[in-house]
Formats: sequence, C-alpha cells, structure tokens
Amino acid sequence: MIRFEEITNKNIWKVCALEPFEEQKDFVADNIQSLAEAYATRNEGNNALPLAVYNDDVLIGFIMIGKGTVGNEDESDLIKENYCLWRFMIDKQFQNQGLGKQTLDAAIALIRTFPFGESEKVWLSYEPENTRARDIYGKYGFLENGEMCGNEIVAVYELLDENCDD
Ligand SMILES: CC(C)(COP(=O)(O)OP(=O)(O)OC[C@H]1O[C@@H](n2cnc3c(N)ncnc32)[C@H](O)[C@@H]1OP(=O)(O)O)[C@@H](O)C(=O)NCCC(=O)NCCS
Repeated sequence: MIRFEEITNKNIWKVCALEPFEEQKDFVADNIQSLAEAYATRNEGNNALPLAVYNDDVLIGFIMIGKGTVGNEDESDLIKENYCLWRFMIDKQFQNQGLGKQTLDAAIALIRTFPFGESEKVWLSYEPENTRARDIYGKYGFLENGEMCGNEIVAVYELLDENCDD
C-alpha cells in the first residue's frame, strides 16, 4: 500500500538518492533541489509539502504538493488559488509496476484532505516531450487548459466533479 512520510533526517539522504531513468532526468528536478525549493517557499510563508513515497516499508519515490504560488512571475489565478502536484517521481527501480498510478491516486486523496485549506482544482505541468506523464495524468482526468508554466504544459483536475457524482 502506498503511504507518505514527511522528510526527516532519517530518510532525507535516501530520498535524495532516488532517481528516474537517465532519459527522464530533464522532466523532473532532482529531489535535493525540490527540497531546497520547499524550504525557500515555506520561508516566504507559502505552501510546500515534500513527501517521501513508500510502498509498504519500501521507499519508492517523492512527491511535493503546493498551494498558491510556485515562485514564478505573472502567475495565473489558477496557480495562485489552487493545489499543485509540484513534483512527482518514482525511482527507476520501481517504475512500470503500477506504483506511479497508485501514488497519483494517493496524492489526490491527500489533497482532498485540504492540508492548506480548500480549493476547487489541482494543477500540474509537464514537458511536451513527457508523453508518459501526459498519458498517466490524462487517464486520471487531468485536462490541458491551454496554459503554459514556463515551457511546460499545464493540466487541471477538478476536485469538485467527483463530489457531484457522490
Ligand atoms: C511518470 C512516472 C511517475 C510514472 O511512474 P510508474 O510507476 O512507472 O507508472 P505506472 O507503472 O503506474 O504506469 C503508468 C502508466 O504508464 C504506462 N507505462 C509504463 N511503462 C511505460 C513506458 N516505458 N512507456 C510508456 N508508458 C509506460 C503504464 O502502462 C501505465 O499505463 P496504463 O494505465 O495504460 O497501464 C515515472 O515514469 C517517473 O518518475 N518519471 C520521471 C519523472 C516524471 O516525469 N515525473 C512527472 C513530471 S511532470
């Protein structure tokens, strides 16, 4: 079962040692860089929640959830007001086993607990070449909205849609 743990001195260097395949390295920041960004974001009073991903007791990946600014200039209302799946990676050793999909599911479930207060949407962004991430997000229900975040395509998931189906 997928579960998340906060980053502590117990797991920080193991988390920093996680890496995707060589050809995926342009698609996601190094975890150590994400942790530095989380630190700076929190120091500015903004929201960043970096988490280690475990499959039962095995460390398999890293996610970072944000809400509001991700430190860019001229951010849209979508970005200013909503949750963001800011980072998402599964170590190369554990990819292609369905764990990425399960992690995405668990990340959205965590966002639905609204750790930084309520919002209607979750957004994320990916490089146009990252067709694999695009497929996973698309199947999950993320829709591209035409926005770009730097060079990355933005896609949005509506948190309220599912509530309506209940
Ligand atoms: C994107 C990522 C998290 C997916 O993790 P994963 O554990 O391999 O994902 P899963 O095993 O759950 O597979 C998800 C889907 O990808 C498909 N897939 C698996 N291997 C694939 C491959 N080599 N090429 C294309 N699709 C593949 C699976 O079939 C599955 O699709 P399905 O729903 O049709 O079965 C992982 O590839 C990764 O960490 N990539 C590098 C970092 C990155 O790009 N992060 C996203 C930044 S926006």
